[in-house]
Amino acid sequence: MTGSNRKPLVMGNWKMNGSSATNAALLRTLLPLVAPLDTVEIAICPPFPYLTTVADWLDDVAISLGAQNLSAESSGAHTGEVSGSMLHDLCCRFVLVGHSERRALHAEDDEQVAKKFAAGLQAGLVPVLCVGETLEQRQRGETQAIVTAQLQAVVKLVGIQNLATGVIAYEPVWAIGTGETATPDQAQAVHRHIRQWLASQDPAAAAGCRILYGGSVKADNAEALFTQPDIDGGLIGGASLDATSFATICRAAQREPVCP
Ligand code: 13P
Repeated sequence: MTGSNRKPLVMGNWKMNGSSATNAALLRTLLPLVAPLDTVEIAICPPFPYLTTVADWLDDVAISLGAQNLSAESSGAHTGEVSGSMLHDLCCRFVLVGHSERRALHAEDDEQVAKKFAAGLQAGLVPVLCVGETLEQRQRGETQAIVTAQLQAVVKLVGIQNLATGVIAYEPVWAIGTGETATPDQAQAVHRHIRQWLASQDPAAAAGCRILYGGSVKADNAEALFTQPDIDGGLIGGASLDATSFATICRAAQREPVCP
């Protein structure tokens, strides 16, 4: 991140957690803690039913709203689904696509993830493409190939420049919710690979694209990860449910603006 013009971004993915009461308590503590942080962009992705209430909380503060998923379809007979335009209507700026829990538990493949990415763009949202390998794939030495294939599927559908208008989140599956974080060197190696692959398609797109790290980011390991040159912030699960931890993580992503 050091020396780049990319504004750091920290996103909290609440997953399927919370209630009206706990969300209010979390936000009441969190907002004053993060309000002074102006060199990092912050976003929160609550479950669908709470988007409107959380949007109200965020009305006067510089924190963006995101959703955790969307339909690849724009409207119609898709019971239980939520479209990108509905999310946009509810003031979402971001939408996660291809989270490993969606890939593993809801059988979303690369092609479907690419369609969701396109649907997010179409609706005026900033899609956050989640990529990452399983432990078995890492042990077989397939990390780069898996991540490249996940990126390629989106580029095939929307093109490199559209991919780069979104955000990429590298989330090694083995680090999610396990307490086993990738070391800063391990994470940086994959982030460098992602940026080099993007650069092989379009150098300007690669230089501007934010690549977040996710997977057991905590208050005490965030800074070491966020100071890696190709890590532009984080996608935070469990630690985003604790106001003090999440605020500390956001603070760790702050940096001095780069002079032109
Ligand atoms: P944890 O931070 O709980 O490992 O979750 C990471 C994640 O999946 C964020 O999307």
